[in-house]
Amino acid sequence: MRRRQILQGALAGAISTLASVRGASAQMMRGTGGAGMGGTMGRRSTRSSGWPTGRPLRRLDVLANTSPVADEFEGTLVAGPYPASLVSGRTTELWGYNSAWPGPLIELREGQRVTIDFANRLGLDSTIHWHGLAVPADEDGSPMDPVAPGGDRVYSFDVPTGSAGTYWYHPHAHLTTTRQVAHGLAAPLIVRSADDPLGTLPEVTLMVTSLALDANGQVATGPTQMGGMGGMMMAGAGDLLVNGQRLPVHAMTPGATERWRIINATADRYLRLGLDGHRFAVVGTDGGLLGQPLPGLTEWLLAPAQRIEIVVTIAARHSTRYSLRDLGYGAGMSVGAGAELMAIETGRVPALAPIALPETLRPVADLGPASVRQRVLLSAAGMGMMGNFLINGRTFDMNRIDLETAVGRVELWDLVNTTFMDHPIHIHGTQFQVVGRTAGGLAVPTVYPAWFDTTNVPAGETVTIKVRQTMPGKRMFHCHILPHEDAGMMGVLDVHAA
Ligand code: C2O
Ligand code: CU
Ligand code: CU
Repeated sequence: MRRRQILQGALAGAISTLASVRGASAQMMRGTGGAGMGGTMGRRSTRSSGWPTGRPLRRLDVLANTSPVADEFEGTLVAGPYPASLVSGRTTELWGYNSAWPGPLIELREGQRVTIDFANRLGLDSTIHWHGLAVPADEDGSPMDPVAPGGDRVYSFDVPTGSAGTYWYHPHAHLTTTRQVAHGLAAPLIVRSADDPLGTLPEVTLMVTSLALDANGQVATGPTQMGGMGGMMMAGAGDLLVNGQRLPVHAMTPGATERWRIINATADRYLRLGLDGHRFAVVGTDGGLLGQPLPGLTEWLLAPAQRIEIVVTIAARHSTRYSLRDLGYGAGMSVGAGAELMAIETGRVPALAPIALPETLRPVADLGPASVRQRVLLSAAGMGMMGNFLINGRTFDMNRIDLETAVGRVELWDLVNTTFMDHPIHIHGTQFQVVGRTAGGLAVPTVYPAWFDTTNVPAGETVTIKVRQTMPGKRMFHCHILPHEDAGMMGVLDVHAA
C-alpha cells in the first residue's frame, strides 16, 4: 500500500492552536458526570446573530480519488483545527477533514476497494467511523481503535454490493464524539450503483448540521456537551445549517423534479422535515433505495444520524419562494420549535414537465425467519436532569460484552424505551429492518420494506427490528444523540464467526 504526503502546508498554521485544544480536552474528561441546570440554561444565550443568510446553496467539496486503478478509491483525510470566518468580524476555530466543512464528500461505487490515509492532527484521540457502511469491525473506527493525537492510520475496506445509498463519516472517540462532531467533524459519503433507477434525476446533497457559537464566536462546548442527561438540553441550541450555510437559497426551474439526499448530521437534533405547500416522495432511507417510493408525504421525521432520499417536484410557478423547514418535534421534551432550513426559489423561465417515478425501485428482501430474540432496554438512572441513560441497566464499558450473535444469524431485537424522551438507536456493521412498533404517534409509516442503521425509539415505546450481522468482531450499538452516547448509552455486540 502506498503511503502519501499528508497536506503538511495546509495545516501548519492550525497546529499552533493545539495547546488550547488539549487544555479544553482535559476539562472535558473531568466533566463526564453530567451537567446541572445552571450550565445548561446558559446555553440559551448562544445567538445566531451575525450569520449571513440567503447565499446560493453550496455544493460540497468532493474528496479526490488518487488511485490510478480503475476499481479502487484512495484518498487522504486530515482531521485538524483551522480558522474559519462564519460570522462577521470573528474567526471561529473549527475542526474539519482537510479543512472542509462540512465535508469533503466521499463518492464511492459498489464493489470498490477503498483505502483512506487518515492523519489525526487534533489534540485528542480520534477515529473515522463509516456510519452505516458494512466494513470489517477493525476498519470501523470504533472507540476500541483510537488514533492518537499526531498519529496516522490507514482504513481499508470493500464497498459491499447492494449498499448504494447515503452515509456519513465522523469521529467515534471514547467520551469526545459530541465535542468533535460539534466542532465540525462530520461529512457525507455516497455509494453509487451501476444501475440506479433514479440515476437520471438531478441530485442535491443536503448535509444538515448544527453549530452553536458563544459570544466570542467560538464553538460552544459548555457543560451540556460533557455528557450526562444535561446533554439533552442541547436540543434547540445552535443554528441549523445546510451544507454549512445558514438558510441558503437553492435555485430551481419551475416544475423541476429533483432527488435530494438529506443527512441529519447534527449531534442531537430531531428534524421534522416539511416543504411549504408541497408533497414529496421518500425513495430511500439509511441503507439506500426503498422497494417502492412512498409518495404524497407532507413531512418526515429524521432522527439524529438518519438519512433520507426524497424526490421533490417543485410547483410550476416562476419567481416563487418556498422553504424547506424543520417543523419542530418535541422528542418527548418541550423543545424543538422548528426552523427554516433552506429556501427554494424558482426562476423566471418556462416550467419543466413533471417526471413520473418508477413504481418499483429495487428489491428490499425480507431477512427471513428470526431464530433468536434479544432485548435492548433503554432506561434512565438518577433523578431528573442529573442522571445518565443506560442500556440493559449498564453504562458503556468497552471491555465488557453486552450482547452476542453469530455471523448470518437473523435476530429480532426489541428496543424498549422506558424513559421520558426519544432515543435514536444505531447499530454498527449492518443495516436492519423495522418490523413492528407498540404504538403510533408519527405522521409517517414506519413499517415498510427499507434498510436502516438508526431507528427512533419514541419515549415509552418499543420498536422491534430484524437484524443480521455479516462480519465477525465487536460492534457498537448506541443512542445517536451524541451526548447520550458519550455519557454511556452504548453497548458492545460480539459477533462470532459462523
Ligand atoms: Cu454514527 Cu456509532 O455512530
Ligand atoms: Cu455507526
Ligand atoms: Cu438517547
